[in-house]
Amino acid sequence: MNDTLSLLKQEALLKIKDINTLSDLENVRLEYLSKKGHISLMMSKLRDLPNEERPAFGAMVNTVKQDVEKALYDKKQILEEKALLETLQNEHIDVTLPGYKLYQGSTHPLNQVIEDIEDLFMGMGYTVEEGPELENDLYNFEMMNLDKDHPARDMQDTFYVDENTLLRTHTSPVQARTMLKMKGEPLKIICPGKVYRRDDDDPTHSHQFTQIEGLVIDKDISFAHLKDALLTMVQHLFGSERNIRLRPSYFPFTEPSVEVDVSYIKKDGSVGYIEILGAGLVHPNVLKMGGYDPNIYKGFAFGVGVERIAILKYNIDDIRHFYVNDLRFLNQFKGVKKI
Ligand code: PHE
Repeated sequence: MNDTLSLLKQEALLKIKDINTLSDLENVRLEYLSKKGHISLMMSKLRDLPNEERPAFGAMVNTVKQDVEKALYDKKQILEEKALLETLQNEHIDVTLPGYKLYQGSTHPLNQVIEDIEDLFMGMGYTVEEGPELENDLYNFEMMNLDKDHPARDMQDTFYVDENTLLRTHTSPVQARTMLKMKGEPLKIICPGKVYRRDDDDPTHSHQFTQIEGLVIDKDISFAHLKDALLTMVQHLFGSERNIRLRPSYFPFTEPSVEVDVSYIKKDGSVGYIEILGAGLVHPNVLKMGGYDPNIYKGFAFGVGVERIAILKYNIDDIRHFYVNDLRFLNQFKGVKKI
């Protein structure tokens, strides 16, 4: 019996030694260790032995089993390592193949203008405030000193959801909301965002466009502060050689109000002016409704069309280019943004 066992073991170890593939190794494992394998059969022979011989024989079969298992395990490690090395040697990467070209997007020109203006004003201590595009009549008109039947509402006709809810016609409602939020404290804000008006779409008009408004409220604010802010913005956007010209105008929410023109050099070398924005000192009624005592606090405000700036800056002939997302147009603004 012992001889049979040691023969079995020798035979198994020899086979394992000569094996070269993982599948052959698995076959040997099944041959010896599966339920009907040689070693399991030896174990079943226990039954035929007298009681006193069983423990010693059982122990011997177990030792043989462990030895074979160990030999199988060691060989498996060697074969797996060999397989890995072969794979690594055969599968080499061709680093000279051309890579995939990833399409790189860019910031929309209107967002470039907004970010540029935000950076400028944040550098001067302003914060950026935003508000909803679907607004209440209260913030969009009434708190801007345009009560229900104010004739100037005609200039800002818009889209109504119901009698009191409308698509905002300017970002001034954000000014109203911020005034209430600040509860009488001084403030310096700019409000960028989309606005809407009932308008025919043509090369210079769109029913939806983009604005940035600015509002500063503090004690001792004067027209000089407004002029300085406007000149700083214009020179930042168009160059330090530019100048501004203020013309008297009318807005219900500012008094006095001005229209602001920026200088440019005409083809014949003379200086011309082109209108870019509206501004003024905050009307006392607006201050009052916003929670400020107009005898103590003063403010200035301005509002500028983002498309208007981009059109002048980049010489664009049709406002609708901004909205149709034609890549031939948008790609021209790659890399324009200062980082
Ligand atoms: N809210 C004005 C508009 O959209 C712009 C503006 C803002 C004018 C602040 C003056 C002062 O027409």
